[in-house]
Amino acid sequence: MKRISLEKKSKEILIKNDRGGYTVPTAGLYPFQWNWDTGFTALGLIKFDEQRAWQELGKLFEGQWQDGLLPHIIFHQFSPDYYPGPDLWGIPKDVFKNKQKIHQTSGISQPPILATVVKIILNEAHDKDLALNSAQELYPRLLAWNRWWWRKRDPESTGLSVVYHPWETGMDNSPAWDSPLKRIESQNNAEYKRRDLQQVKKSQRPSQKDYDRYMALLEFFRSVKYDPQILYEKSPFKVIDLGVNSLLQRSNTDLLSLAQLFGTIEEQNEIETRIRLTKKAFQRLWAPEFSTYLNWDCITNTRIEIPVASGFLALFARVPNENQVEQMTNELSRWGCLCRYLVPSCSPDSRYFEVKRYWRGPVWFIVNWMIGEGLLYYGQTELSEKIRRDSKELAEKSGFFEYYDPNDSSGLGGGEFSWTAAIYLYWLSKKI
Ligand code: DGY
Repeated sequence: MKRISLEKKSKEILIKNDRGGYTVPTAGLYPFQWNWDTGFTALGLIKFDEQRAWQELGKLFEGQWQDGLLPHIIFHQFSPDYYPGPDLWGIPKDVFKNKQKIHQTSGISQPPILATVVKIILNEAHDKDLALNSAQELYPRLLAWNRWWWRKRDPESTGLSVVYHPWETGMDNSPAWDSPLKRIESQNNAEYKRRDLQQVKKSQRPSQKDYDRYMALLEFFRSVKYDPQILYEKSPFKVIDLGVNSLLQRSNTDLLSLAQLFGTIEEQNEIETRIRLTKKAFQRLWAPEFSTYLNWDCITNTRIEIPVASGFLALFARVPNENQVEQMTNELSRWGCLCRYLVPSCSPDSRYFEVKRYWRGPVWFIVNWMIGEGLLYYGQTELSEKIRRDSKELAEKSGFFEYYDPNDSSGLGGGEFSWTAAIYLYWLSKKI
């Protein structure tokens, strides 16, 4: 399809997925507002409706908890199409800031991209007054959320924050979570019926065993009433995820710019201290023999030796030194020789690589944009351009899917997907 019509189609998708102030990732499969989807979607919205982009972000923060947690799903309205819904999460009412206005939400978070998105929109907006006012309003909420990651998810101030559920990483069934998940006791509970398999082929979604474990974790969270200290001490799944920590480090940097405009000197110092701490702590995750960073299992206190795409998100976080950048660039180029389209979600020569299954091989536009942006920052223009060209070609061949086969380019998972359309508008529709 031609660039102009792809541009038109991607706008149409964002408009079609609008449910009145917020955008669903795709109709049916994901019928609510998701946390990190919101950030990427807003990047697409600024290309044709800045006011609507700010509204999208504001709407998500309506569900923020008193302690700063920004949930991974806000259930603005009922839908029978998704499981688990708000009843299963069973969130205690006293977690919300405004007791008069209780929202139905999940009880976990997702990779923190929003401070970065706010900074980008602020820089690129045409309506500067609207942008300054909106960013100023969001700043204290963004700060509260980042502080939640620093304090509740890293109470020992190591510089790296933990997650308790594969859904918090956004990369639900990455092979990196296989061994930490195996320890979760689960029963195949006949009472629950997966809704995702009504929309997408089984071969493209997580296995039943994985789902049972996802549900077992949720039951555990509910049983301890989402108490952050108990979760830190007792969660049976506890990992340091490269995706969350990279996006958090990048958002800390962007939050610092916002603090310089809207915050106090104390806040700026606090953010700077965290950035320094995290940058140093990241070195613990560097694995020279893999030429990338590796995820960490906090229960066994061992690294998870499966190279996945999120290792390269450290580039987006500005964490690696020159030598590491060179090694990562060579490694990523090697991946590019093993499959047709960059960036597969798992190393193509790993025994876990599956071209069509959710986060175990397919290409995702949001990941491509972040890695491409990071490479460009470090002057790796050629590889960054290859990633952009590959992404464009995927859109031209297959349209706007949730993810793509890295070899035959077929579109997989949900169709007419908001963040894919948004990244096309924001990053790919420009002429090279
Ligand atoms: C799902 O239900 O597949 C989502 O990824 C959870 O956030």
